[in-house]
This record gives sequence, C-alpha cells and structure tokens, in this order.
Amino acid sequence: MEQILADAVVMKRERGRHQSQPLAGQTWALIFSKSSTRTRVSFEVGVAELGGRPMFLSAVDIQLGRGEPIKDTARVMGRMIHGAVFRTFAQSDVEEFAQFSGIPTINALTDEEHPCQILADIQTIQEKLGVITGKVVTFVGDGACNVPVSWMFAAAKLGFELRIAAPKKFQPSVALLKRAGGKILCTADVKAAAKGADVLYTDVWVSMGKETESAARLKALKGYQINQSLVKLARPGALVMHCLPAYRGKEIDAETFEANAGTIFTQAENRLHVQKAILKWAVS
Ligand code: CP
Ligand code: NVA
Repeated sequence: MEQILADAVVMKRERGRHQSQPLAGQTWALIFSKSSTRTRVSFEVGVAELGGRPMFLSAVDIQLGRGEPIKDTARVMGRMIHGAVFRTFAQSDVEEFAQFSGIPTINALTDEEHPCQILADIQTIQEKLGVITGKVVTFVGDGACNVPVSWMFAAAKLGFELRIAAPKKFQPSVALLKRAGGKILCTADVKAAAKGADVLYTDVWVSMGKETESAARLKALKGYQINQSLVKLARPGALVMHCLPAYRGKEIDAETFEANAGTIFTQAENRLHVQKAILKWAVS
C-alpha cells in the first residue's frame, strides 16, 4: 500500500509528462456487472495513459450475463488479454476469476469490498492532512457495506483509528472486525463517533444490489447523516469525504456536500492516479 500510495503521488505530479509505459502492447478488460462512472472512466483513461488498451465489457453483453460460468470466462480471457478489472456482486467471483484466468485481476468493487476507492481516499487525506497514521477517520452510515469494510482493512495496515457510526444492524460483523484487526470502534452513537475526528466520511445508504431494501434502509439510517451540526463536533478543519455518487438530503446534506466539494472531487480525481499506480504494481 505504501508503495502504491507513493507512486500515486508521482503519477499525479507527472501526468502527461511521464515516459514510462508499463502496459505497452497490453489489452486490459474492464468487466462490469454494475453501473459505474468514476471507476470505469478512471480505469479506461489510466490503462491508456500507461500505454495499454482498455476493453470495456458490460457483463450483460458477454456470455457471462447469460450464465456462462466465471471460471470459463476467466480461462478464455486469460488466453487473450493481459489483465482484468472486475466490478461485480460476490467477492468470491473476483477471486475465482483471478485464480482461473492467471492474469492480474483488480477488484473494481464487489458487495464486500472497494479497495481502489479507499486507496484514492487515503491519497487525498495524505495530500491534505499529511500522513494518515495516528489520525481518526469516522465513517457514518451503512457501516457494513463495501466502502467501510475496505476502510477496516486499511486501518490496521496504516495505523489510524477507524470509527464506524451505524445502527447495530448496519455495523460490520464480529468476524470481519477480527479479520481486520487494528483500532476500530463501532457505535450507534454518531455524535460520540464524530467527536474530534480528522475525517468524516460517508457513502450511499442503498448500495447497488440493495434496492429492494431501500425504504427500510432510509428509515433505519435517517439519523446517520453528515451535516453541519455533525461537522461542528469534529476537529476544526476536519475533512468531509464521500466516495460518490451522493444523495443529497440522505447520507449528506446539500450544504455540507457543496462546502466540501473540493475534497470530494479530489477523491474522485485521485482514483485515476492511484489506479495507475496499482496497474503499474500489478505488472511489475
Ligand atoms: N465511487 C465509485 O466507485 O464510483 P462509480 O460507481 O461511479 O465507479
Ligand atoms: N457502497 C456503494 C459504493 C458506490 C461506489 C455501492 O456499492 O453502491
């Protein structure tokens, strides 16, 4: 992670000027079973800037969408392309693809994890606040979805405190907390979690694939919004972050979103830089 984060800084600084083309002559498939703006655009641009050719494949347009098994799709791809970026539902599908394709496979979001997002977020925090080690990051909202879970895995590795403010039903499982290790506090008390935090972070209340639970989620998560009164409890100058897309009036109010748009859209931009560093690492 440290190497990728350091490289991401170089990728950002030298964009348009760097000579190195680690993906020269390669074709990378972007296989997406879910919608995407940021991840798709940043990977398509990133692969091209590193000298490779991105090939976008919507899962519904290839035989995967008609039920061809992952392991067969993977074995075909592994014989033709050099790497894959995969956005899908089950984490095990990405892992199976990696195993059967034998090519570098990047997780572009599953129901369970969104690692590229968190790396871009950490790059953003380090740009704005310096090293993340020792800082307090408070996640507010659906604390059991892919984004906070990837935050959990980062916490122990990089030595920052993670607080997850969510109703009991939307907190990560004990098994997951055990697997992640590190300093992680889960609480239903959103005010206590926000107190003195360096970063307040949120994500949608209804993740992709959870649409049938929409009404129940909006009701249960109502009190877990980042707004001006919550920001007042954080450390003065604390960052407010959102992985996007944002639903104003739900997980964040419009005023707080716009007041922090500079940080939020830097997070989105850093997806490009950090993922170029990931791609470079994957072929090195
Ligand atoms: N944050 C994020 O992954 O955005 P997309 O769903 O638009 O890719
Ligand atoms: N938790 C959200 C993240 C979107 C980038 C989802 O899975 O829909």
